[in-house]
Amino acid sequence: MALYAIGDTHLSLTVDKPMDIFGGKWEGYVDKLRQGLSVLQPEDTLVLCGDISWGMSLEQAEADFAFLDSFPGRKLIVKGNHDYWWNTAAKMERFWAEKGFDSLHILHNNCYFYGNYALCGTRGWFYEEDAAGHNEKVFNRELIRLEASLKAAGEGEKLCFLHYPPRYQGYVCPEIITLLGQYGVKKCYYGHLHGASHRLAIEGDWSGIAYHLVAADYLQFRPVQIAE
Ligand SMILES: [Fe+2]
Ligand SMILES: [Fe+2]
Repeated sequence: MALYAIGDTHLSLTVDKPMDIFGGKWEGYVDKLRQGLSVLQPEDTLVLCGDISWGMSLEQAEADFAFLDSFPGRKLIVKGNHDYWWNTAAKMERFWAEKGFDSLHILHNNCYFYGNYALCGTRGWFYEEDAAGHNEKVFNRELIRLEASLKAAGEGEKLCFLHYPPRYQGYVCPEIITLLGQYGVKKCYYGHLHGASHRLAIEGDWSGIAYHLVAADYLQFRPVQIAE
């Protein structure tokens, strides 16, 4: 039994937008992911930290969902900024149920449990969002989602999964970090940073919270094991 995380799979098995064109690490990335995810066993849980698929709708993401569902174990999906296929919880769950993708679940306004751990998360907030004009409404909604998730966790040890890094060289999102502190989060996993941005990632302890980047290209497309 193991708990794993990986972000930014950027799958494109239905839509013709493969990441291989970026070359380097992304060349043959689907095969690399297939190999990386082959560690999964039926009792395992994998948290996917956003940017799952390039599909613009549930239908366009179907082959990507099928790919993820084909591996054993439960998958919890956090929304990324490129997950345009994202829909209401009811629609996503209905679509997955109809297609028989029983292992896929959304981590959104809720939390899941893994042994004594509570798995919490939401998309988060990043300065790129501010570049287009600070959207207080969307920002506040993210804070409300994160708090709802942390509240649902109760007293157990909380692990937090975000798409956007709440800390980055030259950037910090104090509102999110305050919430993490208030709810006693000690470990935070995030994605979104690719390629040259990896060197600007915060990795390790920072004011009592350990941060870990889990973007697929940072992990050589192998999910990182978080717990036994
Ligand atoms: Fe990404
Ligand atoms: Fe992203």
